[in-house]
Amino acid sequence: MAAVQEARVGDGSEVCDRGPRQELACRVLLFPLPFQGHINPMLQLADVLYNRGLAVTILHTRFNALDPALHPEFDFVTVPDGIPAEVAAAASGNIIEIILTMNEAMEATTAVDDVLASVIADEARPRSACLFIDGNLLAVQKAAAKLGLPTLVLRTGSAACLGSFLAFPKLYEMGYLPRQQSQLYMPVKELPPLRVRDLFFSIHSSQEKVRKVLARITESVKGSSGVVINTSEALEINELERIHSEDNVPMVLAAGPLHKLSSTSTGSSLLDQDYSCIKWLDTQPVRSVLYVCFGSLSSMNSNEFLEVAWGLANSSHHFLWVVRPGMINGMNGLDFPDGFNVSVQGRGKVIQWASQQQVLGHPAVGAFWTHNGWNSTLESISEGVPMLCRPQSSDQMMNARYVEKIWGIGFELEGELERGRIEIAIRNLMCGREGVEMRKRAEELKIEVLDCLNTYGSSRIAIDKLVNYILSL
Ligand code: UDX
Repeated sequence: MAAVQEARVGDGSEVCDRGPRQELACRVLLFPLPFQGHINPMLQLADVLYNRGLAVTILHTRFNALDPALHPEFDFVTVPDGIPAEVAAAASGNIIEIILTMNEAMEATTAVDDVLASVIADEARPRSACLFIDGNLLAVQKAAAKLGLPTLVLRTGSAACLGSFLAFPKLYEMGYLPRQQSQLYMPVKELPPLRVRDLFFSIHSSQEKVRKVLARITESVKGSSGVVINTSEALEINELERIHSEDNVPMVLAAGPLHKLSSTSTGSSLLDQDYSCIKWLDTQPVRSVLYVCFGSLSSMNSNEFLEVAWGLANSSHHFLWVVRPGMINGMNGLDFPDGFNVSVQGRGKVIQWASQQQVLGHPAVGAFWTHNGWNSTLESISEGVPMLCRPQSSDQMMNARYVEKIWGIGFELEGELERGRIEIAIRNLMCGREGVEMRKRAEELKIEVLDCLNTYGSSRIAIDKLVNYILSL
């Protein structure tokens, strides 16, 4: 799959476990987009590379700044992001707006160039071999190019997602886009199994802004030496092939799921994780609990919140529900309906933020009601947990489509959130015939994905190739 330059060392095994830190051959710089779903995989990649003997410097913005104390093994450098406080506050959840503002501000000054130049010039640290950027940070890629520093893009979404981004201009030419209400269920023949409604869209930003952001991602991928995708050949072999051959991306490495290769699955959470839920799960019967979480950015209104609460209560199933602060529009504290607490006593728990990977790996968890952010989807697949899908925007629709149509490990709850429909969907997944089949398939898929992480598995080989490439620079 990947066309990589031959490296100085022969195979991956030679670059594993390099021993004491003073022997570090070189350093990699990594710059995540400052959102949870992008920070996690970048820090997981950093950890994987560090464990292969490379020194790591993390560049990060002031906005959603990372805590260096959580990773004493890495160096951290703060980069001015130029996001005005009022934009950060007003754009909460509007990732497109923040990406555009941040890139524009970074391109307007030489602040990023200056920080990068001083990091590269730091002789007290090993030589900087290359910079991993989130694909949304074209401004940083341009700054690195000026300094002759090679970049690689880490795509934190699926290969299908990247393929669809690269195809966006054609999708406009072919008339699939801009999205028309009347065409939402039209298949995109060139990108099966996607339909128009599954293509990337934003609930906050105009289609023109989305188009601009995706064009910039394409530019950053094409302007870099290659792309590392947090996916697995077991999940997306055709999509990976297409990016490599049809889209002419020279180096395409499927190195995921990164959280399963990384030794530190925690340490990058922007919110405090509530570990009490693990103790609670310990008291629950095997596969009895529905884990409910809609990620770090999505929101719902107070009526939808009520319907979810009653849907969970009326399903009679056990559940662990993450209600993030600020997730319910217009509601400050958590205001549960009368009778709810009594009705779910002993079988329902609500928390603000979970240690999600641990939760999904817990034997008491039987299914995941998710918004299908790519990390959540991968984390669920990695534990063999079937999904009830409730995608809201961005790449979530296409992830849900793959869960349902390609992998057969879940189904979408479409349309209005209504307690009766929620109750039926939960019952189908937790104990219906369909649910049993999906769980079986999820178990099989988990094994296929984890196989890719073995010594001769495709994801492990991709990391070997990546490390060899870095050492060749
Ligand atoms: C955003 C977009 O919504 C998503 O579509 C895109 O793929 C990535 O960026 P987000 O809402 O952050 O995603 O969801 P997701 O990609 O699933 O990432 C959330 C991360 O936060 C996961 O790694 C998950 O383990 C973690 N998490 C979530 C917690 O640690 N605790 C929680 O309670 C919930």
